[in-house]
Amino acid sequence: MDILEASQELERQGHSIIPFSLGEPDFQAPECVKEACLQAIRDNKTKYTHSQGLVELREAIAEHYFEKYRAKIHPDQIIVTPGTSPAFFLIFSTLLEKGDSVILPNPHYPCDANFVEFLGGNPLFVPVREEEGYQWNPDRVKKRISKKTRAVFITSPSNPTGVVLEKEIIQKMCRLKIPVVSDELYHGLVYEGQEHSVLEFTNEAFVVNGFSKAYAMTGFRLGYLIAPKKYIRPLQKIQQNFIISANSFVQYAGIAALKEAGPDLERMRGEFKRRRDLMLKGLLSLGFQINYTPQGAFYFFVKIGHLSKNSLELAYDMLQKAHVAVTPGIDFGSEGEGHLRFSYAVSVEKIEEGMERLGKYLA
Ligand SMILES: Cc1ncc(COP(=O)(O)O)c(C=O)c1O
Repeated sequence: MDILEASQELERQGHSIIPFSLGEPDFQAPECVKEACLQAIRDNKTKYTHSQGLVELREAIAEHYFEKYRAKIHPDQIIVTPGTSPAFFLIFSTLLEKGDSVILPNPHYPCDANFVEFLGGNPLFVPVREEEGYQWNPDRVKKRISKKTRAVFITSPSNPTGVVLEKEIIQKMCRLKIPVVSDELYHGLVYEGQEHSVLEFTNEAFVVNGFSKAYAMTGFRLGYLIAPKKYIRPLQKIQQNFIISANSFVQYAGIAALKEAGPDLERMRGEFKRRRDLMLKGLLSLGFQINYTPQGAFYFFVKIGHLSKNSLELAYDMLQKAHVAVTPGIDFGSEGEGHLRFSYAVSVEKIEEGMERLGKYLA
């Protein structure tokens, strides 16, 4: 956020900034999605909905998980939330008592640890390393499990690395006998191989997903969780008290996304792949080493040891001198220090311009 604010200040002074720090697609939401939302408002679909979300949307989500992953979920196992983020609040409010712990990867999406801590839990970090392709090591996880451990939190494709977890690793994590909380928000944005849902391997898991990334719908604020049946009532009570329901007309946009936006998703995915390949080539030609395969999301996590030991300082310096904004690795946990996160959620032209600026800066 500090880098973002500094970059906005530079823009106010009239400088053009290349935003390789973006955590959201620069594409617009699909037309069918916008139209469904507007039509819902015109049709006065503007009241509270069922606290778990519209049945039609929950049916569409269940269908999506069956079609894509052959996972059999009942619509009653789903709670629709205003964005993915509140789904974590519901889950960890339900799972955690003070002093309980949750295993998280290091590096990780910064809010993950905050959700756990805010709700009285202790985040226990397990390193995932570039030498291991940023894949989890289930044996290392096993060693951290204690009587207080309530969940292990996985994200695939990952923010900040873009790595898609291997099927066998997810399977092993499911055998650890503690619930897996699986953030599947970047599913649909995979450019090589195949993403796997935790629900292909177990029913005793919590899935969190939404529409922000694959459908370019960040500002709509629409997400959902899928949970084992026994947890639904307590989760629903928290939803009823704090949230009541997700926005009614936005839920219609979600139905359109799942039922009609397939071609839009494919178009955006194709464009992201093109950008990824271009940025990879650019970063390598600038002398950065990337020794793993970032198959998904829209991020590269790049080592900077040859330039600086301090990712925040380097990110500031790049911003001030090259007018290129990137995210310092330290944001993603202690293992993230020594890295920068580059996002390719920007146009091909901006990637080319950014690489040129960085070339001059590094020279
Ligand atoms: C890994 C991950 N999970 C969850 C979120 C939250 O997404 P939203 O609340 O927009 O659905 C983000 C946003 O950047 C993310 O990167």
